[in-house]
Amino acid sequence: MTATLSDLVVVSNRLPIDVSVAADGSMTYRRSPGGLVAALQPVLSARSGAWIGWPGAPDFSFEPVRLDGILSIPVALTAEDIADYYEGFSNATLWPLYHDVITQPEYHREWHEAYRTVNAKFAEAAASSAAEGGTVWVHDYQLQLAPSMIKQLRPDVKVGFFNHIPFPPEALFAQLPWRREILMGLLGADLIGFQRAQDAGNFRSCVRRLTGLATRGHQILVRESDGSVRDVLSAAFPISIDSAAVDARARLPRVQARAREIRSELGNPDRILFGVDRLDYTKGIAHRLKAYEELLRERRLKVPGVVMVQVASPSRVGVSAYQTLRDDVETTVGRIAGDFGSLGSPAIHYLHQNQDADEMAALYLAADVMLVTALRDGMNLVAKEYVASRVDGRGALVLSEFAGAADELRHALLVNPHDIDGLKASILRAAAMTPKEQRRRMQALRRRVIENDVSRWASSFLDTLARR
Ligand code: G6P
Repeated sequence: MTATLSDLVVVSNRLPIDVSVAADGSMTYRRSPGGLVAALQPVLSARSGAWIGWPGAPDFSFEPVRLDGILSIPVALTAEDIADYYEGFSNATLWPLYHDVITQPEYHREWHEAYRTVNAKFAEAAASSAAEGGTVWVHDYQLQLAPSMIKQLRPDVKVGFFNHIPFPPEALFAQLPWRREILMGLLGADLIGFQRAQDAGNFRSCVRRLTGLATRGHQILVRESDGSVRDVLSAAFPISIDSAAVDARARLPRVQARAREIRSELGNPDRILFGVDRLDYTKGIAHRLKAYEELLRERRLKVPGVVMVQVASPSRVGVSAYQTLRDDVETTVGRIAGDFGSLGSPAIHYLHQNQDADEMAALYLAADVMLVTALRDGMNLVAKEYVASRVDGRGALVLSEFAGAADELRHALLVNPHDIDGLKASILRAAAMTPKEQRRRMQALRRRVIENDVSRWASSFLDTLARR
């Protein structure tokens, strides 16, 4: 066991810090941006907390480092681990399987083997970092075997698991050759959290049909090897953002000035349509572009009155489905730009780059219509960030009913992104929405996002786990 034991240990594929190495080998550490680490920071630092994760590069490690009260403990992965566990089993098997098989999942025994080995590495690191009777909170689909591995190594600790992505219906999950092992891996946890009630329900029906274990309401009754029965609770805990921080940033004079500047740099159009996503096939970027292109072709939207901005942050570039998606999106963007723009008045601005938090806030403030057209999404925090940024009560949110956020954000214009005519009608409706209707809807949306922020989400999960 390591010298410092932690009462609360978070385990996720990625560490919450960015490490840069200078030419002389010295390292500097910076907390990564993002709501999850911000939300967990106070509780982790109060409980001498640790975070176990991969530093994001091959064969890279360092001594555990404490930053803002969180001890980051790296799990080093080899290039082969990354290819098989991360790009392979996590992102070319589980990711498409859990997102409605939008692209075909690939099933490879070597990938599964690597997934098991890497999950064991994370589990061992967690087991040797947790204090007696402490809590270990495992995150997301990359680590579904870790809960039972941790429980086996350390029966004294409480184990929680939260799945950030959807959990598929049994008819799809049943394809997975290792379906029973994954379910039993998760069932090592005392509490299993999902984004939507629908995901928790899918999980319980998979458990009933594929493991033969009984469920009672939200509980699953797990028979242990000694014959005793342990009950595991599964429930929905919809994640959120650091709403107050997003709201505060949008009020900064420099951000408001930048939003005005963006508007004028875009030629002061009547309507700015905006999309921002990781470049992922689950986000429905192609559907959104198709709807926009048809509206331009039919002259129901006209340049320069309207302009679209699409920010696509680079993601999982080593996985072939992401390379194909990039080619498809960029072909369509090129066609839209070529067919409908003119010098000085482009129809679309496309950025395949990460934007910093100020620029994002300014873009949200400048966007008259926010397009979230995911084909399947665990939650979609962009929708919540847009709402929290609209301190002026303006703007219109077009939101896919297949994003978890649709359960809460009922005052958005909800769309089925597969229905291109329906999507086009909603885009036109959003673009024509009166300021009064924008305010009415945005007020209701803001109430929801401000009330249910990420720290409330974290404490509700941890309090429920503590009561187990
Ligand atoms: C989703 C997943 C996260 C993941 C993130 C970025 O939100 O739920 O677990 O970290 O995408 O993907 P990446 O593969 O770059 O970590």
